[in-house]
Amino acid sequence: MKNYFWIIFLFCNQSTAEPTLVPCCTNPSHRVPPSGMKLNYHPIIGIISHPGDGASGRLNNSTKASYIAASYVKFVESGGARVIPLIYNEPPEILNKKLNLVNGVLFPGGSIKRGHFFEVVESIFKNVVKKNDGGDHFPLLAVCLGFELLAMIVSKDKNILEEFSAIDYPSTLMFPRNINLNGTAFERFPPYLLQKMAKENIVMEHHQYGISPEKFHKNKNLSNFFKIVTTSTCKNRKIYVSTVQARKYPVTGFQWHPEKNAYEWGLPGIPHSESAIQVTQNAANFFVRESRKSSNRPSNGEVLDKLIYNYKPTYCGKAGRGFESFDQVYIFS
Ligand SMILES: *[C@@H]1O[C@H](CO)[C@@H](O)[C@H](O)[C@H]1NC(C)=O
Ligand SMILES: *[C@@H]1O[C@H](CO)[C@@H](O)[C@H](O)[C@H]1NC(C)=O
Ligand SMILES: *[C@@H]1O[C@H](CO)[C@@H](O)[C@H](O)[C@H]1NC(C)=O
Ligand SMILES: *[C@@H]1O[C@H](CO)[C@@H](O)[C@H](O)[C@H]1NC(C)=O
Repeated sequence: MKNYFWIIFLFCNQSTAEPTLVPCCTNPSHRVPPSGMKLNYHPIIGIISHPGDGASGRLNNSTKASYIAASYVKFVESGGARVIPLIYNEPPEILNKKLNLVNGVLFPGGSIKRGHFFEVVESIFKNVVKKNDGGDHFPLLAVCLGFELLAMIVSKDKNILEEFSAIDYPSTLMFPRNINLNGTAFERFPPYLLQKMAKENIVMEHHQYGISPEKFHKNKNLSNFFKIVTTSTCKNRKIYVSTVQARKYPVTGFQWHPEKNAYEWGLPGIPHSESAIQVTQNAANFFVRESRKSSNRPSNGEVLDKLIYNYKPTYCGKAGRGFESFDQVYIFS
């Protein structure tokens, strides 16, 4: 393992003083578990809750209420990990304690982009970066709103988002010509599925904001941190960034919803074909595979106490559709 790093280092480092392996090499260092480190076959993922009840107040109007759509929990579980809810309005000490019990974090979709929720997301993001800088391999997957929040945080420009028309709009992913998918979410997607994703509308989009490739490249804070892996097209034929991968961190952003294809039924556009379900499954495999590289080994007792199994999901899919069209939610209040 040591020799391996050394060879890449030599190979890469000829023209630049910066000892970074990522931009010039096809095999990012963060994909390689720390030397001597065994994979963790009991990974735990923290999912942050979103303000509200996930059902426009039909289930709970408390201002303290927050929710996690059960589809994100099932998504993580299908990849072979368990979930600890990071309830955004819990005291910071508890949130920090929970962050020390997990092997990765998921920022789900939603709509809130300011206030206490934004600050908590920002502080968790900083914590993720710190854990990676400290030597752990600690992945973050940010979906839809999560991706938009990362764009705001990393760019240091709260007005960076633009409007796009992509509500309930299954789409394709466009891969830049000659892109190397090694070190991206798609590295182990089967080739036939990648081809389908590029041609058929089997990737679920459900958003009204996003970022164009032009705006992405113009903000150096953003384009130095992330590279664009895919783009997609909205109803008005405008192109937006749909997948990003951080250059030096296991931080991945999807503007699309990997969890909806298999686990949500409340929007007419959600693709449920066999290939669409494989999109969900391969994305879950990717994220959980990353979390197995985390060296964090919390004590079992503390974990059991905090797992999502201590909460009951509520069925909310029967009472009608809205922007929040979840079938099942976990509500915390
Ligand atoms: C929340 O408030 C709305 C509007 O006042 C009301 O229609 C709804 O029934 C309330 N929900 C609950 C769970 O009390
Ligand atoms: C809903 O909100 C009330 C407070 O208004 C709270 O007492 C109750 O436990 C909440 N229900 C759920 C399911 O969280
Ligand atoms: C990806 O990386 C592996 C080794 O790390 C290499 O064998 C493979 O050829 C690479 N694939 C591409 C498409 O670059
Ligand atoms: C990039 O970040 C710096 C702070 O680190 C900030 O001053 C600057 O405005 C940001 N750039 C853009 C284009 O927003």
